[in-house]
Amino acid sequence: MGKDKLRKWDEIATYDFVLQPPTEVALSGESDLGGTWHKDVFGNDNPITLELGCGKGEYTVGLARMFPHRNFLGIDIKGHRFWRGAKTSVEEGLTNVAFLRTRIEFAGTFFNEGEIDEIWLTFSDPQPREEKHRLTGPKFIDRYKKYLKPGGTIHVKTDNTGLYEWTLEQLQEHGYTIETHTNDVYGSFVTGLTEEWQKIMSIRTYYEKKFADEGEKIKYIRFTV
Ligand SMILES: C[S@@+](CC[C@H](N)C(=O)[O-])C[C@H]1O[C@@H](n2cnc3c(N)ncnc32)[C@H](O)[C@@H]1O
Repeated sequence: MGKDKLRKWDEIATYDFVLQPPTEVALSGESDLGGTWHKDVFGNDNPITLELGCGKGEYTVGLARMFPHRNFLGIDIKGHRFWRGAKTSVEEGLTNVAFLRTRIEFAGTFFNEGEIDEIWLTFSDPQPREEKHRLTGPKFIDRYKKYLKPGGTIHVKTDNTGLYEWTLEQLQEHGYTIETHTNDVYGSFVTGLTEEWQKIMSIRTYYEKKFADEGEKIKYIRFTV
């Protein structure tokens, strides 16, 4: 085990806004966390946005800076990755950020029905061989609907053309409302947005930068469930 990973795990274990429930709890489907996010974790009734597969948590932290009256929760299975976002939140005194270390498949264990207002899927693994593992697919959307408010919004940002096109097809096939989509965020799409939306779209994650540097165009889909 790398020393750096251990150091990051030790550090996030000291943060009360980083929740790391045991795998047995995630698998059991029952947890005390459901229904506690507003009152006990964030200490307010403000809406909650999830970033699923948050990596370093750039969207979680970036949106938390922009919207102090909303709450942001990054979820990833790798704690040493979101250590970065957690540390930045401490350094900047952000009180509307939390992180949950669990598998997205089991996230439903930790939320009550309708507890979540919005979801961001940022540069999810494209899973070219296994449709059923794609986080933007109907099987996962059914899982999200168990805790996302009816009519809640899901944002997808990706570099992957295959995942972008497949997701649009699936959304159409399953009757979801696609509010907007583009296969090139930083082309003419972004110039037509409000200043606030331009700022939201300009948050760049680690993987976004990596793929953009490799010449990939960045895609975006927003839909409601
Ligand atoms: C390609 S990275 C993207 C990270 C970040 N969103 C970004 O854009 O830089 C995918 C992330 O999803 C996480 N991940 C993949 N499958 C997951 C799952 N089933 N449950 C939880 N996290 C998962 C990985 O640990 C990784 O941090």
